Amino acid sequence: MYKIAVIPGDGIGPEVTTEGVKVLKALADSSDLDFKFEDFNLGADHYLETGELVTDEVKEELADFDAIYLGAVGDPRVEPGVLEKGILLDLRFSFDQYVNLRPIKLLDEKFTPLKDTQGEDINFVVVRENTEGLYAGFGGVLKKDTPDEVATQEMVNTRKGVERVIRYAFEYTQQRDEAKKLTVCDKRNVLTYAHSLWQRAFDDVAPEYSDVEPDHMLVDAMTMKMVRNPEDFDVVVTCNMFGDIITDLGAELQGGMGLAVSGNINPDGVSMFEPVHGSAPDIAGQNIANPIAAILAAQMMVEVLGHSEEAARIEDAIKQALEDNKVTADMGGDLSTAEAGDYISNLL
Ligand code: NAD
Ligand code: IPM
Ligand code: MN
Repeated sequence: MYKIAVIPGDGIGPEVTTEGVKVLKALADSSDLDFKFEDFNLGADHYLETGELVTDEVKEELADFDAIYLGAVGDPRVEPGVLEKGILLDLRFSFDQYVNLRPIKLLDEKFTPLKDTQGEDINFVVVRENTEGLYAGFGGVLKKDTPDEVATQEMVNTRKGVERVIRYAFEYTQQRDEAKKLTVCDKRNVLTYAHSLWQRAFDDVAPEYSDVEPDHMLVDAMTMKMVRNPEDFDVVVTCNMFGDIITDLGAELQGGMGLAVSGNINPDGVSMFEPVHGSAPDIAGQNIANPIAAILAAQMMVEVLGHSEEAARIEDAIKQALEDNKVTADMGGDLSTAEAGDYISNLL
C-alpha cells in the first residue's frame, strides 16, 4: 500500500489531479498495486483565508508519504511568486528534490508541430537541476521605485549541488536502453564563473562513465537544435532556469503543455510528481483542461516507485487514447477533462 499525498492546488490543478487519481484507482483495480490518497489543501484559497503557505507541520506530515502528487499553484489574485516560491519551490527545496526529470517523448507523431518527424525522433530526457541556480532566491533591490533602481538575482552553483545532478544524469543515461549520450547544456561562454563550474564538474566525472558519450551544447544553440534535430539528444543535463525554459519548448514538440510531465526526485527521500504546466487560469473551472500531463505524472510516480510494468500500462492507455483522438480541445478533440480521464481509465 502506497501512501500518496495529493496537493491539487490552484486553477486547473484540482481538475487534472482528479483524473490522475482516477487512473491510479483503475490501475489498482486491475493490478496488485494499492494506493491510499490524502488531500492537502494548499494554494491560493488556503493562503487568502489563513496567510499560510506550507507550514513546518504540514512538511512533517508530508515526510511520511511515499510520494507527493501535485497539480499546480499560481493564482491571479495573489502576487506572482508568493505561491510559486512559497509552496512549489519550498517543497522542492525542503525535500531536497535535486533532480527534475522531464522526458520529452513524442507519444503520437500526429501531434508534433515539427514536419517530417517520426515518433522515435523525439525521445530524450531533460535532467534539470532543481534546488540551486537562479532559483536559490538570493538577491535584492536598491533604490526601489526610483530611476536609479538596481535589482540583482544571484545564481548559486555549488560544486556539490552541480556534481550530484551531473552524476545522476550520467547514471540515468547509463540505464537507458536507447543510445547513451549525455549533453550538458549551459552558457559557459558568458556565465564564466557559474558555468565554468558546471564545465569542470562535468569534465571531471565524465571519465568515470566511459560507456556514456559526453556532449556539450550552449543553451541558445540547444533551442535551435531541439527544433531542427531533436533526434540528436538522449539525455540533457542543465541548470534550473535553462531546464525550466527548454522543457516548455520540449512540451510543444511533444504535442503541447497538456502532455508534459515533471518528476521532482530525491533518490533517497520523498519525491513529488506534477505536470510541467501551471494553473492555467484562462481555462480553469471549465472542465476542458487536458489531464494527460497529470496522468503521465501519476505514471512517472508508479515508475519511480519501482513498477515499470504497471507504468507502461498507463502509457499504453494514453497512446491508445491519442490514437483514437479521444482527447481534449487543446489537442483537437471534443472530450471534457473528466471524459478524457474516463477514457484512459477504462483502457486499464
Ligand atoms: P500555464 O502552463 O498555466 O499555461 C500556459 C498556456 O497553456 C495557457 O494558455 C493554458 O491555458 C495552456 N495550458 C496549460 N496547461 C494546459 C492543460 N492541461 N490543458 C490545456 N491547456 C493548458 O502557464 P502560465 O499561464 O504562464 O501560468 C499560469 C500560472 O501557473 C502562474 O501563476 C504561474 O506562476 C503558475 N505556474 C505553476 C506551475 C506549477 O505549479 N508547477 C508551473 C507553471 C506555471
Ligand atoms: C515549472 C514552473 C515553476 C518553475 C514555477 C511555477 C516556479 O514554471 O515547474 O516549470 O519555474 O520551476
Ligand atoms: Mn516552467
